[in-house]
Amino acid sequence: MHLILSAPENRPFLEQELLRALPTSVLEPLGDSMLALKAPGSWSEIRTAVGLTVFARQWLPEARSFPVPSIRAAAETLVTELIGCLPEGAPWRLQVEPRFGVADAGRHRCELIRDSVIEQLRKRRRSLLKGLDAVPKAALGDPNRACPLFQPEESLVQLLLTSLEVGFLSILPAPGPFTSMGCVSPFPLGEVPVAVDKAAPSRAFAKLAESERRMGRAIVAGETCVDLGAAPGSWTYQPVQRGARVIAVDRSPLRDDLMRSPRVTFHQGDAFRFVPEAPVDWLLCDVIAAPERSIGLVLEWVRERRCRYFVVTIKFKGQEDYAQLDVLKREMPRWVESFQLLHLCANKNEACVFGTVGDGPLKNAG
Ligand SMILES: C[S@@+](CC[C@H](N)C(=O)[O-])C[C@H]1O[C@@H](n2cnc3c(N)ncnc32)[C@H](O)[C@@H]1O
Repeated sequence: MHLILSAPENRPFLEQELLRALPTSVLEPLGDSMLALKAPGSWSEIRTAVGLTVFARQWLPEARSFPVPSIRAAAETLVTELIGCLPEGAPWRLQVEPRFGVADAGRHRCELIRDSVIEQLRKRRRSLLKGLDAVPKAALGDPNRACPLFQPEESLVQLLLTSLEVGFLSILPAPGPFTSMGCVSPFPLGEVPVAVDKAAPSRAFAKLAESERRMGRAIVAGETCVDLGAAPGSWTYQPVQRGARVIAVDRSPLRDDLMRSPRVTFHQGDAFRFVPEAPVDWLLCDVIAAPERSIGLVLEWVRERRCRYFVVTIKFKGQEDYAQLDVLKREMPRWVESFQLLHLCANKNEACVFGTVGDGPLKNAG
């Protein structure tokens, strides 16, 4: 059995998405924001068949029920399991998290279980303790924006408390977390706190900040971005603050200070007709348009290799069009090194596609 977490409002869409990918699987809802998936085959077969999932925040592959009679007893059982299956000295991560109505008491209990696991490892198997959180998380510009992407040698242990006495345990040995990127999230519960910057022109700021964190890559000084549908300017503001240059395209002007910035070149016009004179580092696009237009735009930019990295919002009017996102899963060109397609924590009725086209030679756009 595999467990999949979503935002509560997205669970029905997650169900539909999974059934399109795995029509013969059995899905059982567990609470309002979790599904149990039963399907034949190994985790790697399931992962390959499912591909990316827009509405899944986190996966717990090969999860099983895990009793928590007491903190100490749960930690002892877990440590015995870990000694049996994790390679000594290799890096691993431990995420002990609460779910459902156990939030406050559960969070505290999770912390105590984690502490108890560490204490027992200290006594029983120090070599395993050395590997816990042993891969340093590269800072993405400031300490609050660490890059948590999995490395090939890392294993992931997730213990999810669904009540104070019971939970689910999932142990995904290396290189599973690395090869499941885009499915299994390095963020506990798959959640990224929504960023706040009161000086930004709007809250749209949080979507770009979250995409960068999930990519493990930030826009840096000296890079060039094209920002399509840029007004009032939060997605332009962020790279400008970091010393990048932005070609901002919109029908309306951006906030005054951004219009005056020497790092911003403003093009008044149609985002869908804009082609840069030369390839750029980043395509940023938060334009309000029908989903098929934004999907077509990102595919065109990537096929034409007009950018190295992309972050594009796909906006919806209702809830009928979500299956259109499958076009991106199917048609993203092979040379795209990595990409994710997600309903972000900062998204409303929209999804975000972001990724890396690759460092190969860029094609001339002209
Ligand atoms: C959600 S807002 C973008 C917010 C922006 N990312 C920010 O952080 O401030 C969408 C923008 O898309 C622009 N827009 C919509 N259709 C457009 C088009 N065809 N060409 C250019 N801009 C367009 C609108 O004028 C609007 O400013």
